[in-house]
Amino acid sequence: METTQNAEVFHMPRIGEKAPEFKAITTQGEVNFPTDYKGNWVIFFSHPADFTPVCTSEFMTFAAMEERFAALNTKLLGLSVDGLYSHIAWLRTIKEKIEYKGMKDIEVKFPLIEDITMEVSSKYGMIQPGESNTKAVRAVFIVDPEGIIRTIIYYPLSMGRNFEELYRAIIALQTADAFSIATPADWQPGDEVIVPTAGSCGVAKERMESKDDMHCYDWFFCTKKLDKDKVMSTILKK
Ligand code: BEZ
Repeated sequence: METTQNAEVFHMPRIGEKAPEFKAITTQGEVNFPTDYKGNWVIFFSHPADFTPVCTSEFMTFAAMEERFAALNTKLLGLSVDGLYSHIAWLRTIKEKIEYKGMKDIEVKFPLIEDITMEVSSKYGMIQPGESNTKAVRAVFIVDPEGIIRTIIYYPLSMGRNFEELYRAIIALQTADAFSIATPADWQPGDEVIVPTAGSCGVAKERMESKDDMHCYDWFFCTKKLDKDKVMSTILKK
C-alpha cells in the first residue's frame, strides 16, 4: 500500500520484504538495523509513550520474557517517539518502583530507540494519524536472520499485546522454516502441523490413503504429527 505521509510517497513495509534500514540512538547505544541483527530473529516493536500504564505493563512482561526469546535466538528492540532521557527515567522507575503481577525489580535490558523526529516510526508505518498524530501505535515487526519481515501485527493504543502470542509466533515461524510445514489455527508445539498441498492427483490419492503419522481431511488439507520435543529441540538455541 502506498500512502502520502509527511508530503512524501510512503510505502508501508510488507511481509516478505527486506526490513527498511535505519540507524538510531537507543538506551543501549547506537543500532544499525537490521545489519546489527544479522543471524538473529528480531521483534521490533513500538509503544505509544513512556510513563503510561499499558506500555509499562507491556515492558515489564516483555522484559520478564527476554530470556525465553533469547533461547529462540530472538532479540527485542523497542521504539517510541520519546527522547532518550525520558526512556532512561521511565525504565529506572519501572525497575525501582513498580511491582505488577508478581513481577518486580524488572530491568529492561533490550534497547529502546528514541525517535523524537518520528523518522524511524514513519518509515515503519507506526504513526497512524487516525489513531494518533503524536504517538506510535503498538506495532510489531518480526524480522528473520536474513533481515526479511516475516510477520506484522498492529494494535491500537488502548490494547496491550499478548506476549505469549508473540512467543508462539516466533516458534511457529521457526518450525515452518525448519520442517517445511504450515501451522493451523491456534497451533501450539506438539499439535499436528499442515503438510504442503498435494501437487498432483497421484500424490493426493496417496495422501488420502493416510500414512501412520498423516491425516487427510480432503485432498487439499493434510496434517501430520510433529512432536513437541522434536520442535523444541530443533529450534531452541543449543
Ligand atoms: C498506555 O500505554 O497506557 C497508553 C498510551 C497512550 C494512549 C493510551 C494509553
